[in-house]
Amino acid sequence: HDYPVVAHSESPALRFEVLARCSVTKARVSKLHLPHFTADTPMFMPVGTQGTMKGLTTDQLRDLDCHVILGNTYHLGNRPGQAILDQVGGLHQFMNWDRGLLTDSGGFQMVSLLKLAQITEEGVEFESPHDGTMMLLTPEKSIDLQNSIGADIIMQLDDVVSSLTTGPRVEEAMERSVRWLDRCIGAHKYPERQNLFPIIQGGLDPALRRKCLEMMIARDAPGYAIGGLSGGEEKDTFWQIVSLCTDHLPEAKPRYCMGVGYAEDLVVCAALGVDMFDCVFPTRTARFGNALTRDGGIVFKINRYQDDFGPIEEDCSCYTCRHYTRAYLATIVNKETVGCHLLSIHNIAYQMRLMRDIRTSIMEDRFPEFVKSFMKRYFVDQG
Ligand code: GUN
Ligand code: ZN
Repeated sequence: HDYPVVAHSESPALRFEVLARCSVTKARVSKLHLPHFTADTPMFMPVGTQGTMKGLTTDQLRDLDCHVILGNTYHLGNRPGQAILDQVGGLHQFMNWDRGLLTDSGGFQMVSLLKLAQITEEGVEFESPHDGTMMLLTPEKSIDLQNSIGADIIMQLDDVVSSLTTGPRVEEAMERSVRWLDRCIGAHKYPERQNLFPIIQGGLDPALRRKCLEMMIARDAPGYAIGGLSGGEEKDTFWQIVSLCTDHLPEAKPRYCMGVGYAEDLVVCAALGVDMFDCVFPTRTARFGNALTRDGGIVFKINRYQDDFGPIEEDCSCYTCRHYTRAYLATIVNKETVGCHLLSIHNIAYQMRLMRDIRTSIMEDRFPEFVKSFMKRYFVDQG
């Protein structure tokens, strides 16, 4: 290649090259070479395996320039199930996606979706929503499923507590996450083609986070995730924990902040040195008739925008903005599934453009100016 590299790391299944660093903040631009694709970071990874109504087709995700998408181990383990995934040779083949894929381990989804989940040292026990039987997701089972799915990046099973939890349970969950990480590493069959990322836990306690960082960094993983955040804590506390983590994580390895997708958080966390993000927010909010814009969100309701014949955003080049007016969207949203589909396309395009703008401003060494103008337009100018 013919670009300058300021820091890099190499693991059996990924190569990470830092190309530029902001001279004021901790922001950086990198190339993340994965088995299926080379992704530009900082990047946002949309969730690609939801039900058809919420999701987009893989062709649409490709057209939107998504480099990596997310799959859910728990959902895929149920449907199509492990036997089918093994038969077709993994999810890339099955869903016709030839770019980067990342799967979460399933435990977080269990705990956040099913309030009935019980956590023991063995794993996460829960009642199957399909047939009511008790199921146990262990670290070994999660990795076995993720090996069958075949994503470029797979996540350890972690013990996640709400970021509002306090007391000894936070420490227990952090220590258990380290023990489960070792069980995941032991169970992983394909380290030469799938990257297993640990997840830093420890709640909002800096001392626990430092302890977790030290133990997990000692495992020398190809990249690291920051978990247990974005659960209702103060923004300031959230950003301080992210900053503490990026201060300690290896400079030349990718850093992934899980479950973060509000525009202002993407900008701030990129400034703190985070490279990867995912969140269901842009597609979930589309289902409620909300479109993301650089001037803040707009809510499509009947009796609003009915005679507005402009696009959602004047300078957006997405399919929806090229072909449909606000008036049309206001008329069909909440009535037709195509309405939330069209909003999802715009909202993903919005996230992708935001990340591209972040990367370009870092490369051109004007990221602090970008942050200022972004925040001013987003928070100040809209009233
Ligand atoms: N998604 C958002 N936060 C988390 C987390 O802490 N752990 C896992 N596994 N997934 C997440
Ligand atoms: Zn658009």
